[in-house]
Amino acid sequence: MISIKQIILLSGLLIFVGCSSPDLSDKPKTFKAKKMISQVYKEHFLIGAAVASSEYGNRDYFDIRYAELLPHYNSLTAENAMKPEVIHPLKDQFNFQAADRIINYASSNNINVRGHALVWHSQTSPWITEGSKDAVRENMRNHIMTVVGRYKGRVYSWDVVNEAVSDQGSYRADSPWYKAYGGPEYIIDAFKFAKAADPDCSLIYNDYAVVRPSKRHDIITMIKKLDLKKHGLDGIGIQAHWNLYWPEINEIQRTIDMFSEMGLDIHITELDIDCFDGMGNKEGRAFDNDLDDKLAARYREIFELFRINSDKIVSVTFWGVADDHTWLDYHYNKTWNAGKPLKNYPFVFDTDHKAKKAYNEIVDF
Ligand code: XIL
Repeated sequence: MISIKQIILLSGLLIFVGCSSPDLSDKPKTFKAKKMISQVYKEHFLIGAAVASSEYGNRDYFDIRYAELLPHYNSLTAENAMKPEVIHPLKDQFNFQAADRIINYASSNNINVRGHALVWHSQTSPWITEGSKDAVRENMRNHIMTVVGRYKGRVYSWDVVNEAVSDQGSYRADSPWYKAYGGPEYIIDAFKFAKAADPDCSLIYNDYAVVRPSKRHDIITMIKKLDLKKHGLDGIGIQAHWNLYWPEINEIQRTIDMFSEMGLDIHITELDIDCFDGMGNKEGRAFDNDLDDKLAARYREIFELFRINSDKIVSVTFWGVADDHTWLDYHYNKTWNAGKPLKNYPFVFDTDHKAKKAYNEIVDF
């Protein structure tokens, strides 16, 4: 049987044909890096980026801000635009505008789209998990059938369930979905509905810290216990919010092997490399030569590993395009930096959209 990966790569070898941008004041910058990353990796896996698309009423239009960098990618993911609270804020109200912009841009430029995310405890309006279990199940059915149905055939892979396993072990029992169902069966329903909505789409369980042995174990246990493959699960999404030192390459390899041995496709879904050490260094720092070198070395070893495993990996998606826009800046302000700015530099393109040393490391090998 021909795999989803073969279909994508064969039909892909995607040619970027360019498109006209709406006339807004944000001017695209002019720098162009020499080799398109997605072209360099066309025999290995898709290269993706998460993009902001004017959701939440801002003017962050990815196709304008990143016009010159987008040819590097042959897969796009909505950073927020397809999340339940944005796309389905009220029971009788869908808001497809921002998501459609990504889908339309992708279609007219021969770029694939990964959908993110259908069932999650976060960024989900309360109405959807309110009421009896049957009512909540019907809300989920309607949500998934409508959203997946709308983009059927235009989204090659969906993150169906996001982050259902807790860091403390077992299920995330404080998820509103878990509470409404009184257990983890909501995960099975989500896959069943997604499968019914688009039988040809590759359906993914997506989570962070998947490479941590205890969490990896809990995820594997969940997949087996709930028999998720029988209900439509095709692969694992490894978010890859990593840093300069963690995780060890061997642990990533072990993770890829373990899921792949279960017959699951591997998607690296949210790659960014936190330039702080994750060990309590909370002082801001500039992106200097030293950091440029360290990040380049880290990207070199990570992409080397990805290439070795390219028969197992379908897509590698950065959680952003360039350092001028990364959720890490805000994430750390909220969680550990007491509101102080903490600029991060997680990508291979800098705040001016210029290629960093890390870019050279991943395209020249
Ligand atoms: C983040 C977005 O990047 C932010 O803009 C938003 O404010 C919060 O969510 N895991 C996920 C992603 O699955 O959806 C999250 O994205 C990052 C962590």
